[in-house]
Amino acid sequence: MVNIESNNKVALITGANKGLGLEMSRQLSQQGLTVLIAARNLQAAETATTSLKNEGLKAQAIALDITNSSHIQTAVQTIENQFGKLDVLINNAGVMLDGEWSISNASSVSLDIIRQTFNTNFFALVELTQALLPLILKSSSGRIVNMASIEGSLTLHADPTSLIYDSKPFAYDASKAAVNSFTVHLAHELRNTPVKVNSAHPGWVKTDLGGEGAMMDITEGAKTGVQLATLAADGPSGGFFHLGKPVPW
Ligand SMILES: NC(=O)c1ccc[n+]([C@@H]2O[C@H](COP(=O)([O-])OP(=O)(O)OC[C@H]3O[C@@H](n4cnc5c(N)ncnc54)[C@H](OP(=O)(O)O)[C@@H]3O)[C@@H](O)[C@H]2O)c1
Repeated sequence: MVNIESNNKVALITGANKGLGLEMSRQLSQQGLTVLIAARNLQAAETATTSLKNEGLKAQAIALDITNSSHIQTAVQTIENQFGKLDVLINNAGVMLDGEWSISNASSVSLDIIRQTFNTNFFALVELTQALLPLILKSSSGRIVNMASIEGSLTLHADPTSLIYDSKPFAYDASKAAVNSFTVHLAHELRNTPVKVNSAHPGWVKTDLGGEGAMMDITEGAKTGVQLATLAADGPSGGFFHLGKPVPW
């Protein structure tokens, strides 16, 4: 097992081959963390890892389809054997399968789409987090960041003046509300440990998922997740944030 200095932190980011996951990996590596670039396609993880290494950063590829329990077990074993702990988990991998943002489809979206969406965005996120928790508890400053979305905010969905009032893809939105519930419940359970658990809304970001019409570039969009992954010991836990400001649940 590698001997890790206290300032030598290890982070695992899911869905890190592109989009926000890759950029958060870059920004955490720039802060000196060793980043495990997890992707369901190993080749894609390796390509992303090479791009960070070419920038002089510390990164390592890991094959992880988060909906595959045996991938999860292998990832846990790999991290245990190589590092003995995990300092940061960013649950970033996510899908939007409803089709369009500007729809109201609660009356018509198929249960198949709802199940597929929850399998990735919620059930897999919970399974991976539970499996990695023993390693996160071995860190002196464990940080869990759940990439939720403003689309998971029930308060804003119910407010006719909010920006998202007319954006109602039900499967995606419900899955992110469920992620927020996990954040609050896990943070409460871990409240007497050093581990902090928070939800992030990155902004509406130009990625494959966010689309070309999005308002924020990826560099800016990665900042919320990175901030929550590197919170100081007196930072919040059990919150929902965008660029340091609370988002309504
Ligand atoms: N962009 C926005 O405006 C926005 C706003 C709010 C929240 N978010 C959230 O931020 C996160 C990242 O989104 P993004 O915009 O960067 O999207 P993206 O560019 O589409 O990237 C999504 C990532 O998730 C991965 N993924 C999907 N299913 C997976 C699985 N079963 N196992 C492992 N990886 C899987 C994808 O891998 P493949 O390349 O193999 O498909 C990809 O790496 C998501 O959770 C999203 O809901 C984004």
